[in-house]
Amino acid sequence: MIRTKPFSVKYYRGVMYNQHSHFPSRAEFLTMASVSEYWQSFTPPIFALAPMENVTDTVFRRIVRQCGSPHVFFTEFTRVEQVAAYPRRGLPWRMRFREEEERPLVVQIWGTNPELYHRSAAIIADLGYDGVDINMGCPVLKIRNKGSCSGLIVNPSLAAEIVQATREGARSGGQGIPVSVKTRIGYDRPATEDWIGFLLQQQIDLLTVHGRTAYQESEGPVAYDEIARAVRLRDAVAPRTRILANGDIRSVVDGMRVISLTGADGVMIGRGIFADPFLFSHLNGRARNYNDLSADEKIGLMRRHILLHQDSWAGERNYDVLKRFYKIYLVGFDGAAELRERLNQTADYSSALREIEHFERTGSHAEQRNCTEQARRSGSTVVR
Ligand SMILES: Cc1cc2nc3c(=O)[nH]c(=O)nc-3n(C[C@H](O)[C@H](O)[C@H](O)COP(=O)(O)O)c2cc1C
Repeated sequence: MIRTKPFSVKYYRGVMYNQHSHFPSRAEFLTMASVSEYWQSFTPPIFALAPMENVTDTVFRRIVRQCGSPHVFFTEFTRVEQVAAYPRRGLPWRMRFREEEERPLVVQIWGTNPELYHRSAAIIADLGYDGVDINMGCPVLKIRNKGSCSGLIVNPSLAAEIVQATREGARSGGQGIPVSVKTRIGYDRPATEDWIGFLLQQQIDLLTVHGRTAYQESEGPVAYDEIARAVRLRDAVAPRTRILANGDIRSVVDGMRVISLTGADGVMIGRGIFADPFLFSHLNGRARNYNDLSADEKIGLMRRHILLHQDSWAGERNYDVLKRFYKIYLVGFDGAAELRERLNQTADYSSALREIEHFERTGSHAEQRNCTEQARRSGSTVVR
């Protein structure tokens, strides 16, 4: 059971807040000071694309960058066992990226072994990523039951050890990189004062708060008032830790509303990108909406995704992970559902590309395109 003592009490689940504090040497402090400037150097509001397994890989990040870029990307979550095995077992494929197009890029890691976190963070820093993020939020039952991810919410002593090991590793590699945590407001009930208060004592540079408990998974309303509470705690105990609000934010306008509601420095957006890959284009002067694209433009974007996927993953990742994206691209034009249906039956890249070509030649949107073209040439308006 989560105890809901006031924040002034220095215990969370029997662990004293400062038990794991680390007092840096002068040399360490100098590095730390510059590293901790990193997130401070972002001017709020910060908009991040959320880490999403089998979605936010190097390919989709490049697509999103092309459509309208967030301020920062995160990789899909990667096990510390896999990261720590670098270079012996090669670079985990979830960490792969194409240099400048995907920056700033933060690698998200998960697991339970502090030593492996230390090693992983040093490797991630050595490889020149822009940060390392610890997953303390994934609610999947078989993961949290093993004590990983949101399972750490009920094991604060291990959580603190992991943060400390990651901080030390992150500062020992390369130029040193900042450490962030992504978590929820509690395990079986909101415990913001205790859990987030505890985390804020662990000297993290950035904290993303999903306004649901682990038990809620993706169900029920997001408690933005609890995120606001987390921000107030931050102001009191860790003013240099940036906070991103997360949960059910679907657009830039929505994000700005949540920022003013909670006082957070920014937001992290996940599933909103499924409804509109151009979502982040509203952050700059070149705003577009996916709905306003022509059928040809939508199909063109999807084709680029398929070709990049083939180029990046053929023979390494299952072709079927692409099918999730067909639902994203194939909406809002004549024949979209039919093409989606046909693509869902395909088993490889070349049959998908053949289906698309066939559709472009014969599909109802091709008829419509020809009709519009004819009308344009004859100077008349198409009446449908
Ligand atoms: C398909 C999918 C995969 C996800 N994978 C991860 C992950 O690897 N790491 C993580 O921290 N969260 C992951 N999440 C959670 C999201 O990052 C985000 O916290 C959640 O979707 C709530 O935000 P949203 O309402 O904006 O989608 C995933 C969510 C989805 C839908």
